[in-house]
Amino acid sequence: MSSGPVGNESGARLAERARQVVPGGVNSGQRSVPGLTDLVVTGTDGARFRTADGREYTDFHSAFGPPLLGHNDPDVARATAEAGATLGHMGVGVTEGEVLLAEQLAELIPSIEKVLLTSTGSEATFHALRVSRAATGRRLVVKFQGCYHGWHDAVSLNVISAPEKVGGHDPISTGILPEVLEATLVLPFNDSEAVRRAFAEHGTDIAAVIVEPVPHNVGALLPYQEFLTTLREETTKAGSILIFDEVITGFRHDIGGWQKISGVTPDLTTLGKAIANGAPVGAIGGRADLMDLFSTRPGAPAFFAGTYNGHPSVVAAALATLRKLREEPVHEHVFRLGERVRTELTGLYERLGVPAVVTGYGSVFVSYFMPGEAPRTYADLLNNDASLFVGYRRKLLDHGLFELPLNLKRSHISYAHTDADVDRLIEGTEAAVKAVLADGGARDLENTSTMGGATR
Ligand SMILES: Cc1ncc(COP(=O)(O)O)c(C=O)c1O
Repeated sequence: MSSGPVGNESGARLAERARQVVPGGVNSGQRSVPGLTDLVVTGTDGARFRTADGREYTDFHSAFGPPLLGHNDPDVARATAEAGATLGHMGVGVTEGEVLLAEQLAELIPSIEKVLLTSTGSEATFHALRVSRAATGRRLVVKFQGCYHGWHDAVSLNVISAPEKVGGHDPISTGILPEVLEATLVLPFNDSEAVRRAFAEHGTDIAAVIVEPVPHNVGALLPYQEFLTTLREETTKAGSILIFDEVITGFRHDIGGWQKISGVTPDLTTLGKAIANGAPVGAIGGRADLMDLFSTRPGAPAFFAGTYNGHPSVVAAALATLRKLREEPVHEHVFRLGERVRTELTGLYERLGVPAVVTGYGSVFVSYFMPGEAPRTYADLLNNDASLFVGYRRKLLDHGLFELPLNLKRSHISYAHTDADVDRLIEGTEAAVKAVLADGGARDLENTSTMGGATR
């Protein structure tokens, strides 16, 4: 890991230069964090990252989830470099790596008979919806409150909505045609009755249902098995396409995705993030008859293209990642540490007398500050004390620990994290929560979310 300030320049100075030429100084709206405006990252290594001001943090944010093996995993880095040295990107024909990767995805993910590569998860979900409309000739898509499926228009609504916006359309951006928003029905997650009602009313016009099987873009809402089964039954009955967006759950929770865990097989699956440990790879795969509608097959109607799809270096990263996930006890390790974190944080909040629910799955954890059981619906999450949620994460920075200080964001454990990292997380969290409570909370932080409605 490189050390110290960049050249002689402090983080504050470089961040200011960034703001002069990059809107807001960052390259994704999700990286603009109130209170962290001068964060310049200079090095990553395993479970840690370093900043231009010479600080080192243990990273539980993990770039929103890709580096399941840890940052700069040596095997993935070597494979990427070797591919880079021997095989440039041609943009014609196919490479052996693409074939090997597609074969493995078809073998590992229950729904996948055929698969296409993209560079991002957003492209994968975009194409999943397009091909669903192409296959069915229908107009409507269904998404669920609290789920995020990328930046494109059809799904850019109702992620982290203010209470008064729940139940209506709550776009996360301006500039979207109203007719596009109107063609997306938003339903409450884990509410089978609402799904049955929507199909009773609109079934013959519903092209697709897209769902994060575990909505991790609001932390973690674990699905009722019966809810996923209902989605399968209703879409099958109506001739609609069921899309599992496994961009987060894929590979991280099981190498076969949540569909392997739940036994519910969608028609299409979208993948990204942990598939290549941080290299830009996404994928859309599923039933052969649907995938054969893409224009990669001459004459087929659903246009599909991308200059960088199947780039040799990122394909090599994906192959090296999958090899490690198959050959080493990665899931055993991250699940054990995840369980430790959830159990010990629960004990900590009980000792402190702080109403809290610690939930998640496997390597993902999140502390909501509210009484009661683990939340199952977006409405449950409205009880979370956002000021404490964001406030203690800001205080964690003083202890060299990084959980993203934005409301409802989940945290991740990687193969590179150790028991000592968990020990320090528990100790640091105790100190951070106590500090916020001693300050009487941090009331100015309540609305710190970057995925709220565009009009607020
Ligand atoms: C579930 C889910 N789907 C799709 C996406 C979009 O992926 P990308 O940011 O790679 O375009 C994300 C990104 O966070 C995601 O969490």
